[in-house]
Amino acid sequence: MWRYSAVLPDVEPVTLGEGWTPMLQSRRYSGLYLKEEATNPTGSFKARGMSTAVSMAKKYGLKKLAAPSAGNAAGALAAYSTAAGIEAYIFMPRDVPMANYLEGVAYGAHVTLVDGLISDCARLVGERKDQEGWFDVSTLKEPFRVEGKKTMGYELVEQLGWEYPDAVFYPTGGGVGLIGMWKAFEEMEALGWVRPGKRPKMIAVQASGCAPVARAYEAGEQASRFFENAATFAAGLRVPKPYGDYLILEIVRESGGTVLELGDETILKSLLDWSRNEGLLLSPEGAAATAAYDHLIATGFLSPADRVVVFNTGAGLKYVDMIAEAMGLKRPAEKKLPERSPVGGIITPV
Ligand SMILES: Cc1ncc(COP(=O)(O)O)c(C=O)c1O
Repeated sequence: MWRYSAVLPDVEPVTLGEGWTPMLQSRRYSGLYLKEEATNPTGSFKARGMSTAVSMAKKYGLKKLAAPSAGNAAGALAAYSTAAGIEAYIFMPRDVPMANYLEGVAYGAHVTLVDGLISDCARLVGERKDQEGWFDVSTLKEPFRVEGKKTMGYELVEQLGWEYPDAVFYPTGGGVGLIGMWKAFEEMEALGWVRPGKRPKMIAVQASGCAPVARAYEAGEQASRFFENAATFAAGLRVPKPYGDYLILEIVRESGGTVLELGDETILKSLLDWSRNEGLLLSPEGAAATAAYDHLIATGFLSPADRVVVFNTGAGLKYVDMIAEAMGLKRPAEKKLPERSPVGGIITPV
């Protein structure tokens, strides 16, 4: 990611090898390119934003960072903070994917599980940060996460030969990736790095169980309303009231794109379709985007000849518990621990 350091904050990077993720052409749809963000450290695109945010926090001498998270941002913050020698305080819903809980604990962060959603986590961070001396790295409340995420825009254009695609599909929770990519397009045009052409249609994808931006888009509103009782297995999309909703809506409209919502059943169907036909186990968020592609081809909004980039924002393997539950799969057998370790008997005489 830091190959773009000329357009990133001037700082010694805290890096774990994020960015420059594969752009995979679909085996079935010649116009569809999948941007595979699963290969990032901590298995999601959240690594990009946390790499810049934590690098700058280190530069400014901050010692304690806090963030509410739907899950993957927490894992990334925990990893990058450890790499920088900074303490991380992360707040996530109690029912986050197990992988997100595990990585918070394994990376040594201070993990608080909250009975509620990311909005409740954000409230707790806000209430306690001054007294605890935490710096709040919530989405869009500090300026540097968006800088890291904008590199997705630079990368996709570079990987397509410095040309815009016709559309970009982005699974949208807080929307920072979409906002960052739009910023990247603006910068690249000013720098003369992109061949002049029409900017891509930005397609923001949400889950029907939490679709505040889709509902606002449909209603022609400028901002979203709090989405009550948010529930979807696409955990990263459970953001009931995105802080930058008005920016997402503005960008989508300016680009000639749209906002879609897909039900969990449709998302799971697309996830299994991509596993079985492309050899890629997408995150539920990424599968929402592939389902959205199918939908927009079926409705004629896009044509199969259009060149589009679909973001798989995270690794399906981070969601083993959630996907298994959605599929009704149970672990074939409980792991039985031997009563006595066999090691002595194998390596040495009993
Ligand atoms: C895998 C995944 N995809 C998409 C999102 C949504 O990202 P954003 O908040 O930038 O819209 C998240 C957020 O947690 C996520 O973890």
